[in-house]
Amino acid sequence: MALEAINGATSGLANGVTNGVKHGSSGKKKDLSREALSIVQEKLPDMKAIGAVLELDIGLPQGPVWIDMRNNPCQVLEEYDGEPNSSVKVKPLYIKRFYEGAMDPRYGLFKDGFFDETSLPKGEIRVAVKFADMLTPNPPTNPTPVSALDSKRLPKPTEDLDQVRRDVKEWGYGLIANAMSPREVHIMKEALRQQAAGEMENGVANRDGGPNAPNQRIWTLINKGQEFLDFLEHPLIDEMIPDLLGDNFLVHSYTANIARDGNVPMMLHTDQVGIQPPIRSMFYGVNIMWFLADINADNGGTRVYPGSHMGNIAPEDPFSIEGSVAAEGPAGTALIFESRLWHATGPNRVKDFERPVVLMFFMRSFIRQQENNFLAIRPEVEANLSDKVRKMLGYMTDGAFGGVEGEVREGHFVERLTNPVGPFRDTHKHNKYRAGLKSYDGTTPITKEQTLNSLYVGGRG
Ligand SMILES: [Fe+2]
Repeated sequence: MALEAINGATSGLANGVTNGVKHGSSGKKKDLSREALSIVQEKLPDMKAIGAVLELDIGLPQGPVWIDMRNNPCQVLEEYDGEPNSSVKVKPLYIKRFYEGAMDPRYGLFKDGFFDETSLPKGEIRVAVKFADMLTPNPPTNPTPVSALDSKRLPKPTEDLDQVRRDVKEWGYGLIANAMSPREVHIMKEALRQQAAGEMENGVANRDGGPNAPNQRIWTLINKGQEFLDFLEHPLIDEMIPDLLGDNFLVHSYTANIARDGNVPMMLHTDQVGIQPPIRSMFYGVNIMWFLADINADNGGTRVYPGSHMGNIAPEDPFSIEGSVAAEGPAGTALIFESRLWHATGPNRVKDFERPVVLMFFMRSFIRQQENNFLAIRPEVEANLSDKVRKMLGYMTDGAFGGVEGEVREGHFVERLTNPVGPFRDTHKHNKYRAGLKSYDGTTPITKEQTLNSLYVGGRG
């Protein structure tokens, strides 16, 4: 059937359902499906270079359509007898967002797979991604393969921090040699080994890395021992991060990743993939990966595309690490990379070898943190944080952000309120929320209710 006929059919159905109140949301969905199809039709002239057939399910009433991108002109088919190169089931809203530049296809095509595996693209992933890229206002280009770069110029571990800064600027990453002393490596490695084993034994381990999930991630390290809290005060953080992210940078997440043998390389991503609409003109985060073992290309070294932080760059196949290079270095090295760099956990092919790293991921102060420290932190940990760590976790105001009850002047530590101001009504003479309130000058204007209701005593911190 020709596209016009498909459009006509969907149009008729959509109009039918939108006339009834009962099926209002269903009608809206069908309208969106029709709009998504119109977008695909508009972009067909750009798709010939893909040279493949894609089955596309965007919730049209008659089922999927097939996008034939083998010849000019490319066509939308209602029937196709052969085996498509790829199949994509995607919400029509996402097609609209791709078209508006409001969502990166590598994010949108895979994000619902966490909840519904049938929504993951099938067949040749490259075809699915290129198709979606062609719907965007400005389709990206592939990262430059490392074979086309001057390998002598690529970052290597160095103690020259100015060189590291230049490497981060030019290549998107740098390697700091001897960032940790052998004793620091030993302490952190041992703490991590025991923590990982304990989480496994107690059934609270977080695992990934392919079908057998050999890798282990240890989240929320702020809760997992003094070694990890002390490590957040490492002088290299002050040396490197404020320059890149501003003085009031935050801990976005603080985790460890143990890559074990037999793992499958992670999907290529940038660390600001969660920022949608996607922004490529600026980096918002910086990651420091601390090597707790000698790390190389064979045992899980993080794969990076040098220079892929600059420009409208994205890999057409996010599951292929071809053309990338492993970040390598002896134990004690720190890999520092900015959040636009395309990278992935590398494959570990060394039998019985564990690749432990600690990841300190910092973000600019106005970005919502990956880990919600305020909800995740253990009370005794919160009570004993140093000011330095407290600030990094987000307990200090930043001029416009992070305040409590209106306090947003820069540089003030805020605390959890034991008795936040609640509702006052004229009819409530003895409002429980009045108990224990203190005025801003520190006096206690209301004392009667405190004695009336001892449950609600407590200051305003
Ligand atoms: Fe990452």
